[in-house]
Amino acid sequence: MNFDPYCAGANRYDTMKYRRCGKSGIKLPELSLGLWHNFGGVDKLENCRAILRTAFDRGITHFDMANNYGPPPGSAEETFGTIFAQDFKPYRDELIISTKAGYTMWQGPYGDWGSKKYLVASLDQSLKRMGLDYVDIFYHHRPDPDTPLEETMDALSQIVRQGKALYVGISNYPAELTQKAVEILRKNGTPCLIHQAKYSMLNRWTEDGLLDVLDDSGVGCICFSPLAQGLLTGRYLSGNIPADSRAARNVFLKEKDITEEKLAVLRRLNDLAEQNDRTLARMAVKWILRDRRNTSVLIGASSVDQLNENLKALDDSDLDAATLAKIDEILKDWQ
Ligand SMILES: NC(=O)c1ccc[n+]([C@@H]2O[C@H](COP(=O)([O-])OP(=O)(O)OC[C@H]3O[C@@H](n4cnc5c(N)ncnc54)[C@H](OP(=O)(O)O)[C@@H]3O)[C@@H](O)[C@H]2O)c1
Repeated sequence: MNFDPYCAGANRYDTMKYRRCGKSGIKLPELSLGLWHNFGGVDKLENCRAILRTAFDRGITHFDMANNYGPPPGSAEETFGTIFAQDFKPYRDELIISTKAGYTMWQGPYGDWGSKKYLVASLDQSLKRMGLDYVDIFYHHRPDPDTPLEETMDALSQIVRQGKALYVGISNYPAELTQKAVEILRKNGTPCLIHQAKYSMLNRWTEDGLLDVLDDSGVGCICFSPLAQGLLTGRYLSGNIPADSRAARNVFLKEKDITEEKLAVLRRLNDLAEQNDRTLARMAVKWILRDRRNTSVLIGASSVDQLNENLKALDDSDLDAATLAKIDEILKDWQ
């Protein structure tokens, strides 16, 4: 396929701000890009390429994947691998590339959850799909109630010792289990770099203990689905479901969940954002960045325009105390 050769923007580090990830040596951009949706084998490669190029040109140095992202599973890593080989290879040392394992990936008893067998094999497969020698961060994607935590953490530690990942993280672990995992990884000599947790104005569970554990342990936090998969943007405010939207695909964001009651709350948030001369998406990003314990906001985007809009949040002024209080007031009506 023909494509323009890529030369990264000379000004790519001029405006992006970077936050230290916990007490580690790594800094992450305030905005990171995830490839969960829009980068699968079913998506247009040229759109994927345009989004990734724009991101890197604007200082987004962190791209997040998982073994199962697609569809089909594995294809987001393949898309990334294709574009990495053509565009980003000269910039490998400027990138933080992450992947994960923990959800169903292949048939049989060794393609899911948290055994050492699964995690080690899955990362080997991911590295092949992406055409990489190592990833910067490898995560266990979700807690496994049946595998001893020591085994899962030992798998992560082994992966670091083998040089297949520079750092390890956990995702979707509740506060107490996070504390235990962090202690095991510290004893193993391979400290936990980061926790990847769902967090937005509509889902504030990390405020209830997890962020304190992470802060006390010097572990960073990267917040996924910060726009609640598009609810905290202008996408659905009119009451229509656009044909090209995530809700129209009706899998992870369901049409039936976008009720009139919810839209009423989202419209009040949108009015507040407009009174502050910003869009709802920009307010949602800035709201997460109000807490320094949140290292990075991990957005998704289906177009360059969406990415550019979300990047504008970083130039906006911080939300003042009165606006934050009004947001809390409005969110009391979110069911
Ligand atoms: N660890 C985990 O368990 C886990 C789980 C989920 C996600 N993640 C990570 O987090 C990343 C982000 O998750 P997410 O995609 O749910 O994040 P999100 O930022 O909450 O939602 C992204 C979606 O919102 C819409 N959107 C984004 N910007 C917009 C704008 N300015 N205007 C209108 N619509 C906009 C787009 O949907 P349309 O398609 O409708 O355009 C886009 O695909 C994932 O890629 C993945 O890396 C991790």
